[in-house]
Amino acid sequence: MSGLRTGIVGLGEIGQHHLGAIRTSADATLAAVCDLDPELARSSAGGEVPAFSDLDEMLAATDLDAVAVCLPHSLHVDAALAAIGSGCHVLLEKPFAIDLAGCDRIAAAAAAAGVEVAVSHNQLAYLPHRRLGELIAAGGLGDLRALYARLWIGDRYRGWREDPAIVGGGLLMDAGVHRVYLMQALGGEVVAVTATMDSPRAEERFEIVLEHAGGPVALVQGSYFGPAGTFDDRVDAVGTDGAAVVAGCEAYFEGDLRDEPRLRVRLGGEWRAEDVGDAWDASVARSVHEALAAFAAGRPAPVGATAARATVAIIEAAYRSAERGERVELDEVDATAGAGAGGEGR
Ligand SMILES: NC(=O)c1ccc[n+]([C@@H]2O[C@H](COP(=O)([O-])OP(=O)(O)OC[C@H]3O[C@@H](n4cnc5c(N)ncnc54)[C@H](O)[C@@H]3O)[C@@H](O)[C@H]2O)c1
Repeated sequence: MSGLRTGIVGLGEIGQHHLGAIRTSADATLAAVCDLDPELARSSAGGEVPAFSDLDEMLAATDLDAVAVCLPHSLHVDAALAAIGSGCHVLLEKPFAIDLAGCDRIAAAAAAAGVEVAVSHNQLAYLPHRRLGELIAAGGLGDLRALYARLWIGDRYRGWREDPAIVGGGLLMDAGVHRVYLMQALGGEVVAVTATMDSPRAEERFEIVLEHAGGPVALVQGSYFGPAGTFDDRVDAVGTDGAAVVAGCEAYFEGDLRDEPRLRVRLGGEWRAEDVGDAWDASVARSVHEALAAFAAGRPAPVGATAARATVAIIEAAYRSAERGERVELDEVDATAGAGAGGEGR
């Protein structure tokens, strides 16, 4: 067995993608699997590795270097702390935790134990988003003026995703997380947030203005009330010299987009399609591979505790803004959260 001995807890929808990515990682070897559902754990293990239905048992019985946590949101903190307590690097699904105190507990424990934390913000690994980020960073659109991120869903998420106590909110704290971290990556640090929602912290609809430190403004809109079957996660960027559109990411995986070019760029008055092929599930696998590679090499994770915490802070600011009907600065959220990230400096 070579590479990081890696376990996984949570073998549901996204856990199956992590499982496949751990199996194909050049830097890790699948060493154990765990799910509350013993039959799911057994079938996922495929007879290759031990299967558990309790995380503590997996940690006690197996010598692991890293653990992927693919559990419902409210379980992220306890699972991460248990894995860190066993000396493991931890790769968490989004969101890092359901509140800033949870983010800080994980980051502090990891720093004390000398292990790394990574959060899979997989849409940053989607190649059309990466290409758009490179274009913006190189000044290819001129000065960035605005970003737009859409999230129209026509079918509701069910099960635990309907329970705000488990999700830590509503649609924003669930699929909306992808929209927020993407705006951070493309537009830079967010300094203030103004938001409206139907029911903050149990929202089915949200509209958010993000003010970035460098000047651009991002508009993020999410809703469960799209036409049946819709999955629209388009992203637009507008600069002084040009514009660009990523037609979607998960939209192709969900079957709402098929042949549309994934990235179109308007420069010199002409729109042209850029041939950047990729797929949502490939972005998940790439995100997992890159996190495991960073753990193995002792490099900072692509998205570490500080960056992932900043995403949760923006969402908290959006909830406060919608509750109070006023603009909220990120400084206020950080000041009242009680602590900084406490982890590594990224
Ligand atoms: N990156 C993405 O695009 C994406 C997509 C889907 C989900 N997610 C994230 O992945 C995480 C999991 O979501 P999901 O949709 O895969 O959920 P899911 O309900 O499909 O799977 C969760 C699994 O965890 C297991 N589980 C629950 N409690 C457990 C416990 N105490 N010990 C062991 N196993 C337990 C369940 O039996 C289930 O198999 C969430 O953080 C979610 O936001 C991300």
